[in-house]
Amino acid sequence: MTSIKATNITWHEGHVDRGDRQKLLKQEGALIWFTGLSGSGKSTIAFTLEHALVQRGHMAYALDGDNIRFGLNKNLGFSAEDRTENIRRIAEVGKLYADTGVITMTSFISPYRADRDAARETIGAGDFFEIFVDTPLEVCEERDPKGLYKKARAGEIKGFTGIDDPYEAPEKPELVIDTSKVSPQEASISIVEMLVKAGKIPALSD
Ligand code: ADX
Repeated sequence: MTSIKATNITWHEGHVDRGDRQKLLKQEGALIWFTGLSGSGKSTIAFTLEHALVQRGHMAYALDGDNIRFGLNKNLGFSAEDRTENIRRIAEVGKLYADTGVITMTSFISPYRADRDAARETIGAGDFFEIFVDTPLEVCEERDPKGLYKKARAGEIKGFTGIDDPYEAPEKPELVIDTSKVSPQEASISIVEMLVKAGKIPALSD
């Protein structure tokens, strides 16, 4: 990647701020960051939650790991350096989304603690909710929805997270979900409750 940095650039302030947008949407921007192994259920929960929030009358949008790798991040692979860049870009995109007032979900393995901590810093602690999708490796491997664990075990994919590449579990996530014990709907309900508690969306009786 090029290391040339832009110079002679100036930050421009707009005339509408986040508060104006949030008033319009009757919600506050937030970034719900799902992390966990491939096949742990991150995307399934994120899309279930996106649907639940929209049905409840909120603007929500899910940025999905595999999908983003078809476009914005299609020049990145799975080396440690590329995974870090993948997460850095998503954190920056997530920050923009949160600034629009949209409740945003990201579902990326995001295996490195330092990268997730950097994402929290970029987005801002009050807007960042780290959800550890702590589904056991055996369950993810048994599901193997894309047949990738099988390939990794056969040595056809090198550096696969959980097999021959590390996953650093979060130390203080806002929520832990094990999809071998709870359904995507139940997980989604707990996250909606968490958002209400945090004042991001109003309680239904409000
Ligand atoms: S991350 O590590 O950079 O956060 P990301 O979530 O974007 O990963 O992409 C993970 C998805 O890419 C997996 O769910 C899987 O479908 C696919 N994949 C392909 N190769 C690998 C690999 N070596 N390690 C993990 N996932 C891989």
